[in-house]
Amino acid sequence: MGSSSFSCSLLFLVLLGLVLNVAVLCNGGKTSNFVRPVEKTIDMPLDSMFSESLLATMLLNSTTQILLCSWDWSHNKAILVYNPSAVGPDAPYTFGLIGDLGQSFDSNRTLTHYEMNPQKGKTVLFVGDLSYADNYPNHDNVRWDTWGRFTERSAAYQPWIWTAGNHEIDFAPEIGETKPFKPYTHRYHVPYKASGVLLHFGKYTPQYKWLEAELPKVNRTETPWLIVLMHAPWYNSYNYHYMEGETMRVMYEPWFVEYKVDVVFAGHVHAYERSERISNVAYNIVNGKCTPVADQTAPVYITIGDGGNLEGLATNMTEPQPAYSAYREASFGHAIFDIKNRTHAYYNWHRNQDGYAVEADSMWFNNRYWHPVDDSTSSQS
Ligand SMILES: *[C@@H]1O[C@H](CO)[C@@H](O)[C@H](O)[C@H]1NC(C)=O
Ligand SMILES: *[C@@H]1O[C@H](CO)[C@@H](O)[C@H](O)[C@H]1NC(C)=O
Ligand SMILES: *[C@@H]1O[C@H](CO)[C@@H](O)[C@H](O)[C@H]1NC(C)=O
Ligand SMILES: *[C@@H]1O[C@H](CO)[C@@H](O)[C@H](O)[C@H]1NC(C)=O
Ligand SMILES: *[C@@H]1O[C@H](CO)[C@@H](O)[C@H](O)[C@H]1NC(C)=O
Ligand SMILES: [Fe+2]
Repeated sequence: MGSSSFSCSLLFLVLLGLVLNVAVLCNGGKTSNFVRPVEKTIDMPLDSMFSESLLATMLLNSTTQILLCSWDWSHNKAILVYNPSAVGPDAPYTFGLIGDLGQSFDSNRTLTHYEMNPQKGKTVLFVGDLSYADNYPNHDNVRWDTWGRFTERSAAYQPWIWTAGNHEIDFAPEIGETKPFKPYTHRYHVPYKASGVLLHFGKYTPQYKWLEAELPKVNRTETPWLIVLMHAPWYNSYNYHYMEGETMRVMYEPWFVEYKVDVVFAGHVHAYERSERISNVAYNIVNGKCTPVADQTAPVYITIGDGGNLEGLATNMTEPQPAYSAYREASFGHAIFDIKNRTHAYYNWHRNQDGYAVEADSMWFNNRYWHPVDDSTSSQS
C-alpha cells in the first residue's frame, strides 16, 4: 500500500499494549480550560454511512458484503490514487493521527476536521479501536461494515496504518466466537505476522523477540524518524485505565530510550494528552526510583484516543496535573505530525469545536538522533 512513498522517511513499530499510568508528581503543564458543550455521544444511523449509495443499496443485505468493505472494497473500485512523494532522509511528509474513532456523529466531525485541515495529511496513523462493533449485541458485524464505509471516504484515497486495540479482539465464547481478532484481521491486512502475533507482547514472546531484533536494524540515515504506535498509553494522567500499560512499559521502555524513539502515539483513553520527554527506567528494587523524570533522550508520549466513539469522553483527571504531563484536554479531535526534514517536525492537535485550521496544542519536534536538543514546551512558556 504505497509503502515506498514513506519508507525513506521513517519507521513505525506497531505494538498492542493493554495500558499504563504512573505516580502523580506536582507542578504539571497545562490543563486546558476549554469548555465543551455537554452532549451525549451517539452513533450515526446505519443507513447514513454510505459513500456510494447505489453500491450500498446493493450490498446492505448481501451475504458477501463482509469481503467488500474497507481496503478490499476500495481496491475493487480502484480509487486509491496515491502519488508517492519524494524519498530521502530530508523528504517532507505529513501524517494524520486518529484513535478510538467509532462511528458516532462526533467520529464524523473528527474525520471531517482531518479531511478539511489545511495541512493535508497524506497517511493516517490509527492507534486502535476502530468500529466499536463489539459494543452492539452479538458483536454486530454490520457495524464493522458501516465503519468501513464511513472511513472509506478517506481510507480509499490514502493509506491508513492500523494498530489493534481492545475493541478489535472480538473474543466472545458466549456466542461461539473463540478466535480473537477475526473480524479485524479479515478486513484489515496488517503485517502483524512479521512480529508473530497480535496480542502477546510479554517477555520472550514472538513480538518481544521481533522488536528486540528490529530496533537495532533501524538505520536513522535512511529513516530519521522513529515513531511507535500502540493502543494503551504508558503515561496517562486521566483516571481511566490506570496502570494497565505498566507491564508493557517495564519491558520495553529501556529500548525506546536506548534506540532514541522520537514519539509514541497511543489511544485507549478517550481524551487528549501530550507529555514532556520523560522516562522511568532507573528503577531497581533497591534504589526506589519509581517516578518518571525529565529525560531529553526519551520519547514524547501522546494520547490521541479522542476520535469520538460512542463511549464518550474521559473527563476525570488526576490532580494536580503530573509534571510529566505538558498538555491535557478532554475534547474530541485529531492531530498532525508534519515532518519537515531529518531534524524538524511540526506537531499540532485540533479539537472538533474549532475551525479547521485552528491548533489547540502544538510542538516543534527535534529529532532525537539528528538534532537532540531540548524541545520541551513547558520551559518555553
Ligand atoms: C434489508 O433487509 C431488511 C430486513 O429484511 C429490510 O427492511 C431492508 O429494507 C433491506 N435493505 C435493503 C437496502 O434492501
Ligand atoms: C458526516 O460528515 C459529512 C461531511 O461533513 C456530512 O456531509 C455528513 O452529512 C455527515 N453524516 C452524518 C450522518 O452526520
Ligand atoms: C545506513 O544507511 C546509509 C545510507 O543508505 C548507509 O550508507 C550506511 O552504511 C547504513 N549504515 C548501516 C550501519 O547499515
Ligand atoms: C474521578 O476518579 C477518582 C479516582 O478513580 C474518583 O475517586 C472520583 O470520584 C472521580 N470523580 C468523578 C467526578 O467521577
Ligand atoms: C529543517 O526544517 C526546519 C523547519 O522547517 C528548518 O528550520 C531547518 O532549516 C531545516 N533544515 C535543513 C537542513 O534544511
Ligand atoms: Fe477505546
